[in-house]
This record gives sequence, structure tokens and C-alpha cells, in this order.
Amino acid sequence: MLASSWLWALVAVCAADLFREEAERIMRVTPVIDGHNDLPWQLLTMFNNRLQDDRANLTSLAGTHTNIPKLRAGFVGGQFWSAYMPCDTQNKDTVKRTLEQMDTIHRMCQMYPETFLCVTSSAGIRQAFQEGKVASLIGVEGGHSIDSSLGVLRAFYHLGMRYLTLTHNCNTPWADNWLVDTGDDKAQSQGLSLFGQRVVKEMNRLGIMVDLAHVSVATMKAALQLSKAPVIFSHSSAYHLCAHRRNVPDEVLQLVKETDSLVMVNFYNDYVSCRREANLSQVADHLDHIKQVAGARAVGFGGDYDGVSRLPVGLEDVSKYPDLIAELLRRNWTEAEIRGALAENLLRVFEAVEQVSNHMQTPEEEPIPLDQLDGSCRTQYGYSEAPSLHRQPGVLLTSLTSLLFCLCLL
Ligand SMILES: *[C@@H]1O[C@H](CO)[C@@H](O)[C@H](O)[C@H]1NC(C)=O
Ligand SMILES: *[C@@H]1O[C@H](CO)[C@@H](O)[C@H](O)[C@H]1NC(C)=O
Ligand SMILES: *[C@@H]1O[C@H](CO)[C@@H](O)[C@H](O)[C@H]1NC(C)=O
Ligand SMILES: [Zn+2]
Repeated sequence: MLASSWLWALVAVCAADLFREEAERIMRVTPVIDGHNDLPWQLLTMFNNRLQDDRANLTSLAGTHTNIPKLRAGFVGGQFWSAYMPCDTQNKDTVKRTLEQMDTIHRMCQMYPETFLCVTSSAGIRQAFQEGKVASLIGVEGGHSIDSSLGVLRAFYHLGMRYLTLTHNCNTPWADNWLVDTGDDKAQSQGLSLFGQRVVKEMNRLGIMVDLAHVSVATMKAALQLSKAPVIFSHSSAYHLCAHRRNVPDEVLQLVKETDSLVMVNFYNDYVSCRREANLSQVADHLDHIKQVAGARAVGFGGDYDGVSRLPVGLEDVSKYPDLIAELLRRNWTEAEIRGALAENLLRVFEAVEQVSNHMQTPEEEPIPLDQLDGSCRTQYGYSEAPSLHRQPGVLLTSLTSLLFCLCLL
């Protein structure tokens, strides 16, 4: 009796090892492309973006979910690094600070050329795979980062942004965020405003993936309907398993299926189990559910590492992806389905976005109406009806008067 239970334990251990070995075999050819990692935010808050600080050395960086040895151990072959700015920068210095986060990502590639290859296309990702490097791409998190400007959107594209999350945890003047669905925020655009629709059209024209993590259900539906290319949820899980408004409801998963889009599952405990605790098996449940409702082509990974405070037992840092793959093998996922979830699904969506893009087409030009903008730091050049300085010497006089006024106050 005792002997037989020992034997069973041994069999179980060996089987576990076999799944893990099989996972590694698959990942050596098809590494994981993760949809969302906040390491750049950590580098800002820990080192004010001073990458040359000894403690910021990414080969030995401690206290984060992500560093180079962990990426290697996790078979991470592609990463959308998040250029994230919190909502309190909206109408303030959000554009400048987002630019700085994009610069940090570029400098990571420059400082660690053996590890990171900054790329901007699906072909670039495949190239990095071949070279055994981590394809590094930029996702801008939060539509407020473009400050309601199509010109800024285009400039970000030129600097390498390949997805834009339409909102973070706040409305923009042109798109509603998930807090509208909890009642904490008021609906403002009923999904996407007219200008929001222009933003999505321009993203299609340029070849920027539309990311619907963080948006309201109405925004999800509006964007899924409008976009000429498939979209992504870069870090969102299944609402059916955890009724959190950051997650994707089944009716939207249906649209994901119809549009050949992609949901990259978030590992944050609060979105996985709706509790403070969660485990790897519960993350696999989300992957199973999305596969069941939207098909295996709709499944991906967007761990949200270094952006969250609580992670499931078994998925504590970026080195753990092979254990999750082993669990999917244990659940009878086919090798093709697993390669899809790891990388091929994202590559398929990205290629479709590239196909739809058309730089010969006329750019969107119509600015957002001035009365839809907030913020006292904003000038109004271009909107103003006032004649130019040359035609109105009075302006100079006015400026001079206010200068004197200010001096007097001193
Ligand atoms: C990081 O530290 C390693 C040794 O631990 C060293 O070889 C490497 O040059 C350092 N990298 C940078 C960019 O400072
Ligand atoms: C994961 O958590 C669930 C819910 O608490 C539990 O039922 C399950 O046994 C756990 N699985 C593992 C492998 O620990
Ligand atoms: C996986 O497939 C095997 C063999 O067909 C079967 O015995 C097992 O129950 C399946 N496991 C799951 C989790 O579906
Ligand atoms: Zn996020």
C-alpha cells in the first residue's frame, strides 16, 4: 500500500517534469511574446530613468518581476514594453513624460544589445527570434498620452509606438474608460466620440494596434466595429471567471472571435480570482475560457509584470511562463494552439494591422474641437480667431502691460 502510493507520487512527479520539458522544447522555437510589461515604469520610479546607476543594471536588477536572467529563464522572445503615464499627468506634462518612457525603452536596447533588439514590425520580431534576442516593442498605455492630438499620435508612431491603449483609468476627451461601467466615472463619449473615431482610423492608416485593455464595454464595441484591422487586449482577462470591469465579457469575446482579434491574459490576482490570492491554475482557467468562447486563435499572454503588486502562486515573475505552458499541455492543448498563444496569434494580428496600414492614404487632419479640451496649461494657437502678432501691434502692448503688472507684483 505504502509502496504503491510512493509509486504514484513518483509517476506524478515524472509526468510533471515531462510536461515542463515539452514546454521548453516548444518555447525554444516559439518563445512567448508578452503584451504588457511595466519595467520602464519601475526604472522611472526607482532610478528616475538613470539606467547607468549600478543598481539599475538589468542583469542583476533586484526587487522587480523582470530582469535579464528571468527573461531568459522564461523564454521571453518578444515584449511590448509599456510607455505608461498615470492619469494625473493628463492635461499636464503627459506628452513629455511619455516621450521620456519611450526614450528609456530605446536606451534599454542600446545598453543591452546582446539581449534586446528594438523592432517595430512583425518581421522585426521574427528577426529577433532568429537572433535569440528579446524583440522589444513600445506600447503606449493611456490615450491621454497623445493629448488629443493626431500630430502627437503620428510622432509617437515614428518613435516606435505600435500599440496605443485607448484609455488608462480615466476618460480622455474622446474615449471612455472602464470606470464608466462601475459607475465611478460618467460616460462622456458613449464609447468613442467623433474625434475618437478619427484616432482609430488614423491608427489603422499608420499601422498602430488598437489596444482595448482599460476601456469601457461601449468603447470596446465601438472600436471592434470601427477598426478595419483586428485589435488586441494587451493585458485583460475573462469577465466570466472574475467579474471585474477590467476584464472582457463573453459578448465582447464573441466580437473578438468574429474580428480575429486577440486577448492577452492579465495575471494580476485581482483580475484572475477577484481576490488577493490566486494561482497558476486559475490563470490557465482564463486561457481555457477565452479559448472556449473565442477560439484558440484569440488567446495570448499579457502578464502585467512590474505593473501589479500581487501575482499568482506559480507565476511570481517572468521566468515562470514555461510552467504555465506545461499546465496547458496537461490540459490537452495541442502544440499548434500553444504556439498560437505564445507568439503566432500576436504575429497574425500584427501582420493584419500592417496589411491594413496605408501610408499613401491622406492623413486625418481635423483637430479636436477646442471646447472639448481641458487644462489651464494649454495655449490655443491655431484655434484662436485673434489676428497674428504682425497684424496687431496691440498684442505686444498687452504682453508688455502684463509683464509690467507681473514685475510690480514682485
Ligand atoms: C551589468 O553588470 C554586469 C556584471 O554583473 C557587467 O558585466 C555589465 O557590463 C553591466 N552592464 C551595464 C550596462 O552596466
Ligand atoms: C488554486 O486555487 C484554487 C482556488 O483557491 C484551488 O481550488 C486550487 O486547488 C488551487 N490549485 C492549486 C494547484 O494550488
Ligand atoms: C486529456 O486527454 C486524455 C487522453 O485523451 C484524457 O484521458 C484526459 O482526461 C484529458 N484531460 C483533460 C484535462 O481534458
Ligand atoms: Zn494597465
